[in-house]
Amino acid sequence: MANMIENLKSIKEKALAEILMISDKKTLNEIKVKYLGKQGELTAILRGMRDVASEDRPKVGALVNEVRSAIEGQISAKEEKFAEEELAHALASQKVDITEPSKFVKRGAIHAIPMITDKLIDICVDMGFTVVDGPEVETDYYNFEAMNIPKNHPSRDMQDSFYVTENILLRTQTSAVQSRELETRKPPFKIISPGKTYRNDSDSTHSPVFHQCEGLVVDENVSMADLKIMLAEMMKRLYGQGTQVRFRPSFFPFTEPSIEVDVSCPNCHGEGCKTCKGTGFLEILGAGVVNPRVLEIAGIDSKKYTGFAFGMGIERTSMVLNSIPDLRTMFKNDIRFLNQLK
Ligand code: PHE
Repeated sequence: MANMIENLKSIKEKALAEILMISDKKTLNEIKVKYLGKQGELTAILRGMRDVASEDRPKVGALVNEVRSAIEGQISAKEEKFAEEELAHALASQKVDITEPSKFVKRGAIHAIPMITDKLIDICVDMGFTVVDGPEVETDYYNFEAMNIPKNHPSRDMQDSFYVTENILLRTQTSAVQSRELETRKPPFKIISPGKTYRNDSDSTHSPVFHQCEGLVVDENVSMADLKIMLAEMMKRLYGQGTQVRFRPSFFPFTEPSIEVDVSCPNCHGEGCKTCKGTGFLEILGAGVVNPRVLEIAGIDSKKYTGFAFGMGIERTSMVLNSIPDLRTMFKNDIRFLNQLK
């Protein structure tokens, strides 16, 4: 028995000294097995208990328990220490710096079409215009008839327009809003109506869906001179102060006289280049003095009131401003392309 007690004491001393020296989890596990495992040294002693005289058993048993719990206590203290160190290490090495800016932030931006539309609206509102809206699915009456476009006019051709029924179509021009506003408003007024328009046309400078902005001024003594001054100012604000503006006679059934407006090419400033096909100028919009017929159709006294109107393509405006050769690229949504537009 004395031998057993000696043995137990030396196991305890040895084990505690070994555990103290351990610096990694793996060795700690091996030590755990070595002393407390099924084949462990302490278990072997416990097996020898049956040879101990019965009166000595409680004493030896108590000592075995004491040694066992001393070793267990030391091991779990070490385990705890390792776990703490592991956690501290993980926290230090996996630290996330929430103040660090992320590397790949792609910022969204306004598309070129609403961007130009907004610019145009800003310019016009600054000049006293009110922004109005109209339906995209329009009656033949407002789109054509009330605009003094007779039944046999080429722009009524089925090939140009998307008809829904015989009398309903997708509006081919924002001039349809003119007819509606002329019918309901009392002069004087100044309105613009930006929006989508539709024509059965598709190539590098035409899209079946495109945008226009219509402008209409009705008042007493409004003349072509007012229209020209206002358009020249508008074009300068849109394309830059150095822009030259040119007026050419034209024809629209709803304006008389009618003009077409060219601006000096923003790419070569009038010198002549590929964008303007060497002419130095680019055609930008249609305009004119409102045909008295249009006023009369809407019930406005054309002896008392006169007016002028203009209509411009939004895509065309952006193409000229950015020297874009193909309109379709504006609808492809390639962010690398769109990011460059002004
Ligand atoms: N509606 C014409 C077009 O689409 C443009 C225009 C508008 C011309 C107003 C004169 C006056 O071509």
